[in-house]
Amino acid sequence: MNKKPSVLISREQLTQRVSELAAQIQQDYRHKNPLLVCVLKGGFIFMADLVRSLDMPVEIEFLRIFSYGSGTESSGKVEVVQGLKANIEGRDILVVEDIVDTGLSMCFVLDFLKQRSPASVKICALLDKPSKRRSEVCIDYLGFTVPDKFVVGYGLDIDEQYRYLPEVCCIEED
Ligand code: IMP
Ligand code: MG
Repeated sequence: MNKKPSVLISREQLTQRVSELAAQIQQDYRHKNPLLVCVLKGGFIFMADLVRSLDMPVEIEFLRIFSYGSGTESSGKVEVVQGLKANIEGRDILVVEDIVDTGLSMCFVLDFLKQRSPASVKICALLDKPSKRRSEVCIDYLGFTVPDKFVVGYGLDIDEQYRYLPEVCCIEED
């Protein structure tokens, strides 16, 4: 059976929303020196577009985690594959994530960061899929809410496929 991606969020919608989020972040962090922590791999395209839309100097870091799961279901087990080199003590951290689904990965990331004594931690997520939430997460900057469907593209994958697609797409069985 073939899986065919169909566009859910267009390039134009993504560009527009990313610049709106950047404007809001710029305003909120205007007297600060934020460190943007991108959660890999899924956040890489969103992060790249976001920092280029920000008209302010920012520092960036990458945290690579692996959420165990079979197919499109999260098992709730999360592991750090690549941690942070930077000392984040006293820093204002903005986590940049592709999608919050069950919320378990984001809770894990927040715990990981908070153990390292930052001044503040906020979340910027491109997508929110609230239907499967198992752990409460407060998303400070949100791009779009999506329905209970598996989405790919713009950094998001299914079995490492489709990350390169410029739009956010749904996978539909043929
Ligand atoms: P959570 O721990 O269930 O909130 O899921 C977090 C991670 O699972 C996200 O950062 C994604 O990497 C991945 N994920 C969850 N839903 C989707 C989806 O619809 N498409 C692609 N990846 C997803
Ligand atoms: Mg992710």
